[in-house]
Amino acid sequence: MGIRITPSILNANLADLSAEIARIPSADAVHLDVMDNRFVPNLTFGLPMVESVRAGTDKALDIHLMIAEVDRWAPGYAEAGAESVTFHIEASDAPVKLARELRALGARAAMALRPATPIEPYADLLGELDMVLLMTVEPGFGGQSFLDVVLPKLRRTRALLDAHGGDIWLQVDGGISPQTIERCVEAGADTFVAGSAVFSAEDPDAMVRSLKATAVRAAER
Ligand code: DX5
Ligand code: ZN
Repeated sequence: MGIRITPSILNANLADLSAEIARIPSADAVHLDVMDNRFVPNLTFGLPMVESVRAGTDKALDIHLMIAEVDRWAPGYAEAGAESVTFHIEASDAPVKLARELRALGARAAMALRPATPIEPYADLLGELDMVLLMTVEPGFGGQSFLDVVLPKLRRTRALLDAHGGDIWLQVDGGISPQTIERCVEAGADTFVAGSAVFSAEDPDAMVRSLKATAVRAAER
């Protein structure tokens, strides 16, 4: 199983993202949190910022859209050259159409679920997706505590993905740290967003490498 660390820059210096991205060369992708103060009670940045980041780095961009009316806005991020675009299922009216559009534009299509949203109603959508993101905090802010209540859903999602076959990544986001990453690996996650754990560390890249090593060890058990 491949293990990927995709740090979130939400708790980094948003005014100098190129410099922050340069601090994490070991990251498999950069996770960019787009918030609109409607889907979540917080506001970050939108497409113009992502276009600037795209122009300044070759790192893969993993866009996490926490926005309302996501069907309307998500394709623009794929057009801007993001490698992966994640929409919340709670915000999408036509997720199959949206996932197909994202793929047609050359991006990986990913579906995110808030902590209390069940995976089972969406099992038939898996063939349209390249990644499922299970939020392990309520979306909106960095630095929150990991919600263990999501672990049973993580296990059930892993079982659905294994039954489906193919190579659909399973990402977790929220409260991921050296203290919580192993239980996520054990429950079946393979792709890990970490925001405050990485950017509050003295050496962010060392933290990325350490999280990865911990996860790889846990996956081998
Ligand atoms: C929260 C965002 C996360 C956030 C994670 O809604 O989606 O990506 O940056 O931050 P930590 O790792 O601090 O929980
Ligand atoms: Zn995120």
